[in-house]
Amino acid sequence: MAFVELRNVFKSYFLHGKRIDVLRDVSLDVEEGELVSLVGASGAGKSTFLHVVGTLDAPAAGHMTFRGRSVFDMNDAELAEFRNRTIGFVFQSHFLLPEFTALENVAMPALVRREDRAQAFRDARALLERMGLAHRADHRPGELSGGESQRVALARALVLRPALLLADEPTGNLDPATGEGIHQLLREVNRELGVTAIVVTHNESLARSMPRRLRLEAGHVFPA
Ligand SMILES: Nc1ncnc2c1ncn2[C@@H]1O[C@H](COP(=O)(O)OP(=O)(O)OP(=O)(O)O)[C@@H](O)[C@H]1O
Ligand SMILES: [Mg+2]
Repeated sequence: MAFVELRNVFKSYFLHGKRIDVLRDVSLDVEEGELVSLVGASGAGKSTFLHVVGTLDAPAAGHMTFRGRSVFDMNDAELAEFRNRTIGFVFQSHFLLPEFTALENVAMPALVRREDRAQAFRDARALLERMGLAHRADHRPGELSGGESQRVALARALVLRPALLLADEPTGNLDPATGEGIHQLLREVNRELGVTAIVVTHNESLARSMPRRLRLEAGHVFPA
């Protein structure tokens, strides 16, 4: 049994009486510890795919299991708890809270869960250090560069030790060298923390640097 299994997943949007078929029969296995890149044209459905895998959005049809457990059979509270415990998200925009420091932003998911405060800050500091940002811990997001903000967002996504990290164009707003630095960090945390990761990117050379490569096209997921 694979860590994540998608079977015959369909997802459509309905808008102004029109149906947009985005995912048309996606089946995919992702094994524990894999690092996967996903490319595809703008509008191909990459974000939609991540939202479904991240359980933020239910598919119209199909099944998805995590370690054999069917996620869309859970009730809302179970699903929210499962998502919170299992999945970390990084988006193209960092969505850091502007009035909090980098350290507080990273600790926030643990604080919200009322986990031990001192431990939350220790974990947050260790992750910031891992991202090469120990010297920026007391900066607010407005006092960080784009690449630094994205590294803080990555640290925040990892603070609850998710089994699965989903990143939607985390380097989309960054220059190529800074983007490569983020992808390098993703490869390192994949290896060191054993976190399974799916990374959407428009950058073909960064995509090729990932051990497994997928392409989303015409509603299907292919090996790239
Ligand atoms: N909430 C929504 N309602 C209706 N249509 C939507 C909705 N969200 C996305 N779509 C449509 O679904 C398709 C896939 O969108 P999605 O955001 O998944 O693409 P993407 O591959 O992530 O593109 P990009 O590379 O530009 O981020 C697009 O045609 C988009 O217009
Ligand atoms: Mg997108």
